[in-house]
Amino acid sequence: MTTPASHAQGLGDESSIWFKLTPLLRGDPENPMRILMHMTERYGPVLPVNLANQRIVLISEPEYFKHVLVTKADNYIKYFDGLKPIFGKSMITNDGALWQKIRMPQQPAFHPDMFAEYIPYFLQAIQTKMDLWADLAKTGETFEMVEQTWTLAADMICKALFDRDMPFNPHVVFKCVKTYTDVMNHRDIRLRKQAGEVFEMNDEDAAKSMETWASVPPAVMGADPREMRERTLLKMIEAAVADPTVPEFDTQQAIDELKQYLWAGTETTALTLAWALYETSRRPEAAERIRREGETVYGDRPPTAADYSGLAYTRAVIQETMRLYPPIWGLIRVAVEDDIIGGKEIKAGDRVTLFAYGAHHNPKFWDEPEEFRPERWMAGNAKKQVKYSYIPFGAGKRSCIGGAMSQVENTLALSLLLRRFRPEYVGANPAGISATVTLTPKGGLPFIIRELS
Ligand code: HEM
Repeated sequence: MTTPASHAQGLGDESSIWFKLTPLLRGDPENPMRILMHMTERYGPVLPVNLANQRIVLISEPEYFKHVLVTKADNYIKYFDGLKPIFGKSMITNDGALWQKIRMPQQPAFHPDMFAEYIPYFLQAIQTKMDLWADLAKTGETFEMVEQTWTLAADMICKALFDRDMPFNPHVVFKCVKTYTDVMNHRDIRLRKQAGEVFEMNDEDAAKSMETWASVPPAVMGADPREMRERTLLKMIEAAVADPTVPEFDTQQAIDELKQYLWAGTETTALTLAWALYETSRRPEAAERIRREGETVYGDRPPTAADYSGLAYTRAVIQETMRLYPPIWGLIRVAVEDDIIGGKEIKAGDRVTLFAYGAHHNPKFWDEPEEFRPERWMAGNAKKQVKYSYIPFGAGKRSCIGGAMSQVENTLALSLLLRRFRPEYVGANPAGISATVTLTPKGGLPFIIRELS
């Protein structure tokens, strides 16, 4: 059995593709994505790079995204080495028939028909957050927005999908997640420590974080249900464990599925909302438009599923945020067999990185791509987009199971939070970017908050 300490070290070791990409990303401390963009501009949309006996192929053209994710999806399988401690053997890491067997029993929980059932629970979590923000507004203290949105996203998932109040301290778990998802920094920190620098985090802390993380799913499963609801994701997972026709779906599988949801479904949603609050804080007219839209669509009553379609501008702000800051900036696969993409040879074993950020910022596909313009997503404008040039949720059969649901969560949260508060970003302008497994704000997004009268 692997010890927590060796897990923690595994994150930054040679097997992690994110670690391998680190040397490429140094050189532009404010936005390492720009380096990859320059490379693809200079050397083309299919760029093989040899790094320490390993070929990584950086792909940045939408038609090749389609090739890898849709047309020849079976030739490009998942690659999760280095991230096993986070995801275990959950479906996000599997391929083929096993993946299908694990995904099928869970799929109904993400059908759009379920959203109306979830919305009251999303609203409860947002209300809890607003109560906390009212206190933060009184003290005027500076706080970290990603931590705030992470705890909100975790609460929404626990209440809506698991029928549980969070049976863990989300602020503690957030810090654990940060400690061991900062994959590249793991290695950096060790190297810089050797050079005599002092860091707060060490391997022991990382190992402790691992242990805390491993304790979260059993805590969720063991906690009392809030309402004994029959149709929840957790119930579907429990039914799959009890189903003798799917022996692969054992108790460990269930634990790992929960890990996956609490990481893949929480950090991505939280980053999107935090970046959206950052952008709207810098654009008072956008924040005002969101407030007015909420007033018109649902006024003083709680928003419902029927109101969601009316929140067109707020939803467009979320979509535009995911274009500028795709939480999953690169999708990674391993080639099973040799192939040709864009005239370039792909060899079996190559690590193929689909550079979503590059396509989202490419002037070939977007007018003034660096501009934050929610209007691109409104009134038929979205139809003009080149297919596969926007892949925040991936594409094909392995696309995000919770993508549509996350848009409901974030649209409602942004609308309600901005109607009551004026969050003010007080960090460096513009905020720097740090590319770990996800696209995170470098050093966080510090905010203060005022309550609107
Ligand atoms: C803004 C929010 C989100 C973003 C940007 C996002 C992004 C993604 C992406 C890009 C993938 C595909 C990765 C690949 O092909 O390699 C993915 C897969 C996945 N996501 Fe999300 N996600 C979000 C929210 C959620 C939520 C709310 C949940 C569930 C509660 C979720 C659960 C999953 C799962 C389980 C998979 C794996 C699906 C499979 O392999 O069959 N995600 N997500």
